Amino acid sequence: MPERTPYLAANWKMHKTVAEATDFVDALLPRIAATQHDVVICPPFTALAAVVERRYGTAVKVAAQNMHEQEAGAFTGEVSASMLAELDVEAVVLGHSERRQYFNETDEALALKVPAALAAGLEPILCVGESEEARDADQTKGVLERQLQADLEHVASAALPDLVIAYEPIWAIGTGRTATPGQAQDACAFIRDVLRERDSGDAVRILYGGSVKPANAAELLAQPDIDGALVGGAALDPDDFAAIVEAA
Ligand code: PGA
Repeated sequence: MPERTPYLAANWKMHKTVAEATDFVDALLPRIAATQHDVVICPPFTALAAVVERRYGTAVKVAAQNMHEQEAGAFTGEVSASMLAELDVEAVVLGHSERRQYFNETDEALALKVPAALAAGLEPILCVGESEEARDADQTKGVLERQLQADLEHVASAALPDLVIAYEPIWAIGTGRTATPGQAQDACAFIRDVLRERDSGDAVRILYGGSVKPANAAELLAQPDIDGALVGGAALDPDDFAAIVEAA
């Protein structure tokens, strides 16, 4: 079975000015200098260049939080994969539930965004996850399978190991209601089984996201199919995020 390096990503959402972002990186770097894990910071677009600049020579990678599927065009307010790659950004979060919910991000768009990111050399961090109603109706697996099939439709099986999948149950995001380690493990194992049908399940990193904190990180990250975390609220504080990296 391939070794899967732990992957810890800080999703800042619409937080941090350039000044706040550089302060965070300066505080974080000494705390994680010895880590062998993949540590990824996802700043807002305006702080990408500053964070990229600050982390040169370190193991920290930088991810954008969204991108448009087209290479260029009349899409006011949007940014393309090659524009991100030009900044030395290495990855991009795609399909976050907040984008699906508030900005009408569709599986059809994601089916184009994922290959566009890969073609530009960006590592997609594809988010999938069920709503509270879907979980209560016992439809979690059906939702995850549909999202994975739709969003990865145009990705060759051989390219799947270049992707990271984040399982983020919507009911656990920003709510303080973390999935239990068992619930998170079951969903991540199911995602791996879906990917195994395309011969790539064992190589793909699968993250859990949803109210991950220093206090619950170790137990979640100890689950066999959870290879890392996508952290929102607790990743705004360098000490908390460093503690989560250490817990992995
Ligand atoms: P949270 O956010 O850690 O604040 O729940 C996670 C996410 O949305 O990626």
